[in-house]
Amino acid sequence: MNPETTRKLINPKASATRTVSIVGTGSYLPERVLTNKELETLVDTSDDWIYTRTGIRERRIAAPDEATSDMASHAARKALEMAGIEPGDVDMIIVATCTPDMFFPSTACFVQKQIGASKAFCLDVSAACSGFLYALEVAHQFVASQSAHTALVIGAEKMSSVIDWQDRTTCVLFGDGAGAAVLQAREEPHGILTTVLGANGNLSDLLSIPGGGSRLPYSPETLDKRMNYLKMAGREVFKHAVTNMSNAVLEALKQCGATVDDVACIIPHQANARIIQAIGQRMNAPMEKFYINVHKYGNTSAASTIVALDEAVRSGRVQKEDLILMVVFGGGFTWAASLVEW
Ligand code: UT7
Repeated sequence: MNPETTRKLINPKASATRTVSIVGTGSYLPERVLTNKELETLVDTSDDWIYTRTGIRERRIAAPDEATSDMASHAARKALEMAGIEPGDVDMIIVATCTPDMFFPSTACFVQKQIGASKAFCLDVSAACSGFLYALEVAHQFVASQSAHTALVIGAEKMSSVIDWQDRTTCVLFGDGAGAAVLQAREEPHGILTTVLGANGNLSDLLSIPGGGSRLPYSPETLDKRMNYLKMAGREVFKHAVTNMSNAVLEALKQCGATVDDVACIIPHQANARIIQAIGQRMNAPMEKFYINVHKYGNTSAASTIVALDEAVRSGRVQKEDLILMVVFGGGFTWAASLVEW
């Protein structure tokens, strides 16, 4: 630099990080209800087996011409409406999904187009069922560091498009749907307190869609072996889900100096009611603290937690200043837990 010139630059990111709050939520579930009874006609299963093993009674299935971004856009509009924010004021759209409309462009770009958020930059996050909390934390960091003012965080899935409808061990578990949250910095001290994130790539084979990517591109063989559909070693996944979600919860509570007694509502990933019960036992948390909707929607993957949060908020189950705990687990393996003061 020339010593004669005095440079006066502004570093817009230099100030301390800001408190970030969820200022609006929304969700969308497709109209079509697929009951356990109907599944009895598709595969060798029963309403009794599905309900006792998972707590699921029914799930929603998107229309054939309804893509992930369509559901995501419905949820996004509702979240923006609750927040009182125009689409044109959104700076960032992040969509968590493992069922994107296409490999590329990102589903977030399609959402941007549909809702008219022309100012926003757009990206997708791939963390399977943990995706919403991963995306929430990415957006949180952008808003806290002033790289974005208003972020739209979406979890959306069309699981019915990757389910093997001949495989009774998986097809009874999943459903379609979308949820969205709007994040902004706020003056008040409450908001997102912490998010613990974790992953174990060594166990990626236990839950995946093995075919159709660059490892095993679509071919007559991959299609023949039905490798373009979701595969899961259910019992193994169950064990790891309980252990990792419980540990993530304890770590999040510890980081904030909180105990289970301080938490008003726990919003877990809605994969299986028995997993939720097992976490409750490990945490010493009564079942009444958990918000559960798995009976209505099954496992909607990245949409599950945010759909549940939106329902809890709109029904009054979550009140101002309540401490909310969200916890998720999914393919990767990936997991996360967030503590939010509402
Ligand atoms: O969101 C990502 C995370 N995913 C999860 O968290 C899912 C975790 N896993 C689970 O929720 C459970 O492991 C399942 C619900 C998938 C399975 O429950 P399970 O109690 O672990 O059952 P299992 O896999 O040990 O199977 C028990 C029996 C088997 O028969 P045999 O070998 O004992 O004769 C299965 O073939 O149940 C049979 N079975 C079924 N029977 C009727 C498996 N699926 C079905 C079905 N209907 N749909």
